[in-house]
Amino acid sequence: MNFSNRIQEMNFSPIRKLMPFADAAEKKGIKVYKLQIGQPNIAAPDSFFEGLHNYEGKIIPYSDSKGILPLRETFSKNYKKYGLSMGVDEILVTQGGSEAILFVMMAICNIGDEILIPEPFYSNYTSFTCFAGVKIVPIPTKIEDDFHLPNMEDIEKLITPKTRGILFSNPVNPTGTVYTGKEIETIGKVAKKHNLYIIADEVYRQFIYDESIEYTSVAQFKELENNTILVDSISKHYSACGARIGSIATKNKELLGYFLKLCQSRLCVSTMEQYAAANLINTTGNYVEDVRLEYKKRRDLMYGYLQNIPGVVCPKPCGALYIFAKLPVKESEKFAKWLLTDYSYENKTLMVAPGPGFYQTPNKGTSEVRLSFCISEDDIENGMIVLKNALEAYKNIEDSI
Ligand SMILES: Cc1ncc(COP(=O)(O)O)c(C=O)c1O
Repeated sequence: MNFSNRIQEMNFSPIRKLMPFADAAEKKGIKVYKLQIGQPNIAAPDSFFEGLHNYEGKIIPYSDSKGILPLRETFSKNYKKYGLSMGVDEILVTQGGSEAILFVMMAICNIGDEILIPEPFYSNYTSFTCFAGVKIVPIPTKIEDDFHLPNMEDIEKLITPKTRGILFSNPVNPTGTVYTGKEIETIGKVAKKHNLYIIADEVYRQFIYDESIEYTSVAQFKELENNTILVDSISKHYSACGARIGSIATKNKELLGYFLKLCQSRLCVSTMEQYAAANLINTTGNYVEDVRLEYKKRRDLMYGYLQNIPGVVCPKPCGALYIFAKLPVKESEKFAKWLLTDYSYENKTLMVAPGPGFYQTPNKGTSEVRLSFCISEDDIENGMIVLKNALEAYKNIEDSI
């Protein structure tokens, strides 16, 4: 039987491919601390479940392909809280941020077109671009610069007649970098000058830990209205990854029409989950702020441990749910596998996401790993103790593996 080039060129998730080794370690009775995941362990707000129970229909109908109006209103009101103006008719509900990004690729790129993305980047961007036959052109960033962007000229050098847009997450997965207002302005200037789309993936918008940082979104700039596409999701903000609710928003009417074609082709997003998510606007108390402070505490805890492990280098992340660290190892992929197949400390080990999975450029990120702090404080502490001991043991045997 034949298979498409597309599916054969696509990689398995660099994070999920370690899972069988973790399962095998657990079968042997070893406790595995899962620091590779981006799955928050904080309870979703009650409002979500109330929304689900408030649904009184007796059948589960297809919903409007655009997404139900109350949910689009919820997204719109939520944007207002961040000083962003997106009307209900400028927002389409998608199956998570994932579908939103895929739709963007399908709508703005032909096969062979190019998208600039600051590297390292969220590993699934590779899958979405692969589905759409789009080439990623990485914008290099360095750990020494806390993964901030290069200057305008260096970004412009990467532009070719095939470039269609600039995609970035902000705060950044995997580095936790939050781009400054100046950096966002630079992206805007490049996009305007070269007539490019800006795809701002803001699924971590609420997780900025340094109060001195003033969050800047491209969606604040009126002159960029036609270029800007905002991607959002309730996955991380409300610990609702499995609900699969996200959105695309843009003021570019023509583009919105094309997105709607894509929405109609998949009929609708799960109706019940939309009702549940629509009720998130009625979340009581300080849910969002409390969650942010909780993650801030966890970030500080993990960062503090990492500072005391010899040979580990990492910027302190200002946002998102991850620390991207350089370890004193030659190949983090081998190290990550060894942790699961050959190592345990007091019958415990850990799972990390190897750095190369966040790069397209060959031989980059070879010593780096992404560590998630959306796990409990206990798991962070234990995981860091295992990491310190594992690195100590690994340095004596690395060359023989
Ligand atoms: C930067 C970024 N964008 C988009 C997504 C997709 O999120 P979802 O499809 O769950 O909304 C993720 C998930 O981890 C992410 O980290």
